[in-house]
Amino acid sequence: MTPRGPDPAIPSELLPGRPPLSPATFQTLRNLLHEHSGIALSPHKLTMVQSRLAKRLRTLRLDSYETYLERLRDPASGEWVAFINALTTNLTSFFREPHHFPRLVELLAGSGTLPRPIRIWSAGCSTGEEPYTLAMTLRQAFGAHPAEILATDLDTAVLDTATRGVYPWARIENLDEAWRRFAFLRGTGAQEGKVRIRPEIRQLVQFEQLNLLDASWPMAAGRFHAIFCRNVMIYFDKPTQRNLVSRFREHLAPGGFLFVGHSESLLDATMGLKPLGQTIYRKQEGQP
Ligand SMILES: C[S@@+](CC[C@H](N)C(=O)[O-])C[C@H]1O[C@@H](n2cnc3c(N)ncnc32)[C@H](O)[C@@H]1O
Repeated sequence: MTPRGPDPAIPSELLPGRPPLSPATFQTLRNLLHEHSGIALSPHKLTMVQSRLAKRLRTLRLDSYETYLERLRDPASGEWVAFINALTTNLTSFFREPHHFPRLVELLAGSGTLPRPIRIWSAGCSTGEEPYTLAMTLRQAFGAHPAEILATDLDTAVLDTATRGVYPWARIENLDEAWRRFAFLRGTGAQEGKVRIRPEIRQLVQFEQLNLLDASWPMAAGRFHAIFCRNVMIYFDKPTQRNLVSRFREHLAPGGFLFVGHSESLLDATMGLKPLGQTIYRKQEGQP
């Protein structure tokens, strides 16, 4: 049976000299990641996987990647979450691809009466910067008009950070002073050097764990006026991307908007979605 927790039988001084990740084990790990999360890791990412999983091996005091694989396959080990958390790429920032935010305001305002509430989904929200940017944008543009932002991710570690809504000051130092004042409170005392999202902005966002590859999603079809799924689908293969785009379309209200990352042109996946430029798509009126 695979031992659980730190194994005292392995002297820690032996751990740094563990054998490298072999191409065969890398391939197996790649396949498992793909099956479970849809993430298609490039075959050139062996070194990245090795260094990210090295931390897990150290924590679990395992002597090889093959032992790690055994641990992962043991359903009782509960290692899946940590494995996925270690291999997802969570890079994000406030106002990433900034043109999308004023454009969202224009599109919502230009669609006639504002929906009550405005419902937006940030799918693959990482540590929360994207949904909080959406919340700031809506508050600033539409004042107290009701809005609900659902923010989901597969990775539980990033969701913990997102839910706290506390960030190092460095994360916002490049934002305009007006935005910093509008949306953040500066920490003092033990919180010096940190900022917290203001409660009136924080309350617009609800965080939930969701694997986009799950066969069904708990949200009703036709629910969202906009969906942001940016810099997430790049990790998925084409069939997975196509399937997701079609499910996003179903979850948009008629005339709703899908925003994807600047490198994620949907090309042939745009059935029932009209490209508006700048990787923004609109669900065609009359589509279910
Ligand atoms: C690079 S971040 C993008 C964050 C944000 N959307 C942005 O553009 O700044 C990608 C996020 O997608 C999440 N992700 C990857 N596979 C996922 C899946 N199958 N279901 C849900 N989220 C996933 C990762 O955990 C990660 O937080």
